Amino acid sequence: MESALDWHTARALLEWQIEMGVDETISDTPVDRFALWAAEQAGAAAGAAPVATAVAAPVVAAPRVDAVAEARAAAAAALDLAGLRAALEAYPHCELRRGARRLVFADGTPEAQVMIVGEAPGRDEDIEGRPFVGRAGQLLDRMLAAIGLSRADSVYITNVIPWRPPQNRDPKPEEIAMLQPFLQRHIALVDPDLLIVMGNTSCQALLGKRGILRLRGIWAEVADRPALPMTHPAYLLRNPAAKREAWADLLSLKARLRALG
Ligand code: URA
Repeated sequence: MESALDWHTARALLEWQIEMGVDETISDTPVDRFALWAAEQAGAAAGAAPVATAVAAPVVAAPRVDAVAEARAAAAAALDLAGLRAALEAYPHCELRRGARRLVFADGTPEAQVMIVGEAPGRDEDIEGRPFVGRAGQLLDRMLAAIGLSRADSVYITNVIPWRPPQNRDPKPEEIAMLQPFLQRHIALVDPDLLIVMGNTSCQALLGKRGILRLRGIWAEVADRPALPMTHPAYLLRNPAAKREAWADLLSLKARLRALG
């Protein structure tokens, strides 16, 4: 039967049931197990075969899908950014897409020398369909402006995860893994001189490790180019004292850019 509920309402109802303590779904109609038991006992006493309490549905094994292999093939087939965006739009295996309003693909200048990889869209980005447009994004714009950079002409921005996770939870390792081929292809197609790896999720996806407070400020290499891990602007909003180190990282980025000419 087609449900009249939209996805968000259905999910909210399900979450409410879980909060109320429902931990198992059995059937739409109640089963009187006392009556079944009584009938079975009566049948046994009369020498009849036991009453069947349930008819097991035949188990049909669903074909196994290798979501990462499919992501790899789809990403590799994308010849340009429009193709990559279309490939992501068509990719069915990430559950996050079902709860998100929009795909948040990228913003800024694809010809930029600097590509920033953030974590995942939040509420504002989900509504607008562009990365880093909320408070953290506004701080990011001010940080970039402080060293003479802007999305309008010198920076390209994307995220590891293009769909907003529910309640802004951290992306799961399997979500990062299945979206990684798209991110790698994204970097190859933009082909920036330098990468900024912003926050722990990006470190996980691009450097294979977490611990941004240890990693920040130390240049690494990602996809054959220099990559600078930096603390996420959302972290800086919560911990203004960390802006001092972020400023040092911005100066390090500026120096690298100057050295590139
Ligand atoms: N945080 C991110 O990492 N990315 C966004 O797009 C917004 C907030």
